Amino acid sequence: MSAVPTFRRGGIAGTWMIAAALAAALALSACDRSRDGNAAHTDPVASASATPAAEQVARGLYLAQAADCAACHTAPGGAPFAGGVRLESPFGTFYGTNITPDPQHGIGGWSADTFYRALHDGVAPRGQLYPAMPYPSYRAITRDDSDAIYAYLTTLKPAAVPNREPELAFPFNMRFAVRYWNMLFVRDTLPDASRGESADWRRGRYLATALGHCGECHTPRGRFGNPDRSRPLQGDSPGRIAAPDITPQALAARGWTGADLRSFFSDGIAPQGSAFSEMHPVVRLSTSHLNPDDVRALSVYLLGDDAPAPVVLPAPTTLPAAAGTTSADTAQLDAGRDLYRAVCAACHGASGEGKPHVAVPLRGNATVRQANPHNLIVTTLDGIGALEFPHGERMQAMPGFARLLSDADVAQLTNWLRTTWGGQPGDVTAQAVAKFRLPGEGAR
Ligand code: HEC
Ligand code: HEC
Ligand code: HEC
Repeated sequence: MSAVPTFRRGGIAGTWMIAAALAAALALSACDRSRDGNAAHTDPVASASATPAAEQVARGLYLAQAADCAACHTAPGGAPFAGGVRLESPFGTFYGTNITPDPQHGIGGWSADTFYRALHDGVAPRGQLYPAMPYPSYRAITRDDSDAIYAYLTTLKPAAVPNREPELAFPFNMRFAVRYWNMLFVRDTLPDASRGESADWRRGRYLATALGHCGECHTPRGRFGNPDRSRPLQGDSPGRIAAPDITPQALAARGWTGADLRSFFSDGIAPQGSAFSEMHPVVRLSTSHLNPDDVRALSVYLLGDDAPAPVVLPAPTTLPAAAGTTSADTAQLDAGRDLYRAVCAACHGASGEGKPHVAVPLRGNATVRQANPHNLIVTTLDGIGALEFPHGERMQAMPGFARLLSDADVAQLTNWLRTTWGGQPGDVTAQAVAKFRLPGEGAR
């Protein structure tokens, strides 16, 4: 298995830190020191007086799942929403906080107004929050929905777990500086990656951009770590595994239909493959809990009201030899095919058809069909730990092949997979593979 934990939001938290540094410089010149304090964690008017209605609490639970609060606020093995989740970044470590109703460490003394302000503005009694908390997306959550999430959280068992301050080096440790980044980059709405006006599309937009904060991983970042508003959902690669382009054209080019996306979001498995790396917890903790109407809405939003036709690959046997193919290329491809048969076929099947409950098909797999070979190479090197999927499905662990295969082997194998089942050119070089080797694995 990879040395990188499956759950790693590192680069995401990292990128905007550059901007925080810039903002810090601005802030220092302005001699602004307000708000960076330890304001008391209590509100004069706490709202615990009224017991929330059961309907509102149930809706709040549903919304908290749709917004995946647990991903960053429930540590593995820890009490629900008691915080302590480590979020690594190149600039230091952030910790999800305690959002149980504990009066001292959690949100026990907060009012619904204070809570809304944390989601909408990223401002808490402790001061400005870092955008490791995705308030730039949550800003679009309605007041009603915020109140329901708040009502749900106040029914949880209080956990007396103290918060941990992020461990950041100067100048990133200056909270107040983030406010300047907010002024530059936080907007009330996020741009759309697809077009539509149906009720499903509009609901899906809210689920994807606000609650699901899909763009936090799938939208590329600009120079200052800001989401690039001109390229919504066009893919980003801050982590070891890239978050692919999920715009309508890109999804259709990899064969995705609305029905396939619905299976992917409900079950984590579709004809195009399984959810792995950072997408796996998104499905397990969040999208698999959505009701069928919302799963449909999310899928409609991604493809747009007028979904592009999915690209169907020609059967592998009918693939013509590419123009200009030399016998050297053919020899390389034969070597790739032999490697596949030797090390991959036992699980993924001789014709890439996969095996139920063992491994997903690779023929037509979206990871194989991606124009950028990044995820295909990294998966081959690192493998994937055994994963549990919603509704009881399990897959075996896939071993990593970093030590068994040389850079040239991985390039040959990747090129054979791309040309045979991916509809992509076999243009991956050994040098390109070498760049993905983890330190210590050594070049081969
Ligand atoms: C991608 C990770 C992530 C997700 C998802 C996330 N949070 Fe957070 N949240 C954080 C981090 C990290 C902090 C602490 C930020 C800091 O130290 O400035 C935080 C802080 C907070 C705070 C401030 C707590 C305090 O004591 O100051 C609240 C409230 C909060 N989150 C609520 C939520 C809710 C509700 C959701 C779901 C709707 C949610 N968060 C989803 C990462 C996340
Ligand atoms: C021991 C069985 C096993 C072997 C051998 C194996 N895999 Fe896998 N592979 C899996 C499983 C299981 C998954 C699905 C992981 C999950 O999501 O749980 C997977 C997933 C993948 C994926 C990600 C696609 C997706 O949709 O999940 C790629 C790409 C992949 N394998 C390529 C390869 C290649 C290339 C080889 C040979 C070098 C190989 N695998 C060998 C079991 C295996
Ligand atoms: C924490 C980061 C993160 C978040 C948040 C996230 N994704 Fe992903 N997503 C990934 C990564 C990494 C992959 C690549 C691994 C895989 O294919 O499962 C991925 C893969 C996908 C794929 C498969 C694409 C393909 O062709 O292989 C789809 C579809 C997708 N995400 C949709 C979404 C939607 C919709 C949301 C919001 C509800 C979302 N993602 C939120 C990181 C994320």
